[in-house]
Amino acid sequence: MSNGASPREHWSGSLGFILAAAGSAVGLGNIWKFPYITGENGGGAFVLIYLVCIAVIGIPVMLCEITLGRYTQRNPAGAFKMLNPPTSTLAHFLGMIMTLCGVFLMCFQYWGWGALLLVIGALIFRYRWMLVGAMGVLAGFTILAFYSVVAGWTLGYVVIAAAGSLRFTDVAAAATHFETFVLSPYWAVGSHAAFMLLCVLIVYKGIRSGIERWSKILMPVLFLLLVVLIIRGITLPGAVAGVRFYLSPDFSKISAESVLVALGHAFFSLSLGMGAMITYGSYVGREQNLFLSTLSVVALDTLVALMAGLAMFPAVFAMGFAPDVGPGLVFLVLPTVFNQIPLGAFWATLFFLLLSVAALTSGISLLEVVTAYFVDDRGWSRRKACVVFGLVIFLLGALCALSVGPSGWRNMPWLQRTFDFAFGGVKNSLFDVLDHVSSNWLLPLGGLFISIFVGWVWGPRRAVEEIRRGSHNFADVHLWSLLAGLKDDPSHSSDVHVITLASLWGIFIRFISPIAIVIAFLHTVGWLDLTG
Ligand code: PFF
Repeated sequence: MSNGASPREHWSGSLGFILAAAGSAVGLGNIWKFPYITGENGGGAFVLIYLVCIAVIGIPVMLCEITLGRYTQRNPAGAFKMLNPPTSTLAHFLGMIMTLCGVFLMCFQYWGWGALLLVIGALIFRYRWMLVGAMGVLAGFTILAFYSVVAGWTLGYVVIAAAGSLRFTDVAAAATHFETFVLSPYWAVGSHAAFMLLCVLIVYKGIRSGIERWSKILMPVLFLLLVVLIIRGITLPGAVAGVRFYLSPDFSKISAESVLVALGHAFFSLSLGMGAMITYGSYVGREQNLFLSTLSVVALDTLVALMAGLAMFPAVFAMGFAPDVGPGLVFLVLPTVFNQIPLGAFWATLFFLLLSVAALTSGISLLEVVTAYFVDDRGWSRRKACVVFGLVIFLLGALCALSVGPSGWRNMPWLQRTFDFAFGGVKNSLFDVLDHVSSNWLLPLGGLFISIFVGWVWGPRRAVEEIRRGSHNFADVHLWSLLAGLKDDPSHSSDVHVITLASLWGIFIRFISPIAIVIAFLHTVGWLDLTG
């Protein structure tokens, strides 16, 4: 099923798909965020919990997304539109709850929130499950707007490091430099523009000669850079303490909070919950093995995250810095560390190049989600869609870039007043608002509805049928079949009561993943306190 006009372009084979999807998954989340949240949450113990979250939620939900994509051969909005049931009790129930909450909030004069819920309620009644896909396209838009700002900083740091100007004797000096850098409209907007331009150029070229070709070049480069940096880090005198800190588990630092951080990060890191994997899955040929591809993408993403920590902590310890400094680890501590080792400017340039490459392959997947929607469902040409939306996202991102800093909205008091009027008490910058809305709301809700949709609406039976094309050994045998929704599946008629991968997967996407996501979501938005 293609959009009618021309046959849909496909990846040239499994390797192209795996590298492109791993390129989407491996990004700032792996190299910038994973090491510092590991540093804050007990090192090796946190890594173990993260691995469990990846296995329990990451793999099942990614398989849902890729399967939906390949079956429908559409972008997320198109995929849900195609499979949207004519009526859905669950959707109507949700629509009713939203509408009632909206009316209730209006009564208490929460105008912005009330109106928002009323609109969402009406949209659910009108579009039902299609809204999940539309939410994915919207998330692609908002995530890329702030993601490209941080990616721009890393590009800017490549230039500054190569010029030999990242020379700081202490972290305070690095912090002053970083602040001047992000507050400079020229650097902040200019580097963001450069990053968006690269994304547009690659997406413009299409699937094989754009995204696949560049993923095949950039992913090995990224791997190589990482290996070189790890060797440099662990051969510094005193590096062993860093390896020990990173990999030896300290269970006393683990709390319910750490588990939720691990779960939330698993989603972001694997690019789940917004249909990036539905979109990439839609370019997969019928003969490819979806199950093995999913496992490979997840394994690569996890491997790079683990390696990123090994590239950083040994160097940080060897130079006597504290590991648990949070988000500043990459922009403040590492430049200071590099300044103290021989050929520091060279290593710093390599490091920020690594970060930029990782961000680029993720950025293109975000732009591709938006582009694919306008190509599939609105009949636009790929070139027009990616240029127009590259530009729109650039403009929104430029506002984000200018909103960063202590006086947040200083450049846009009008926008702050509008937000304040509608939603009350908005103190954070536009950057923080977009980050918060997409990471804490759109992605988890998207992931929740995707697994509920596949588990309860479209049904694991049809999904497993799709997965079986190209991977015959994925399914077959029963016992848990009833629970997993695979009761009438012809291959589940055996009398041998053992668990199959298919039935396990069905159980995970129907029960375990949704429940875990709901708990994490309620905690993140502050409606459930598990920290005790
Ligand atoms: N997975 C990317 C990272 O870890 O940086 C971020 C991301 C990319 C999230 C693409 C969502 C997405 F669709």
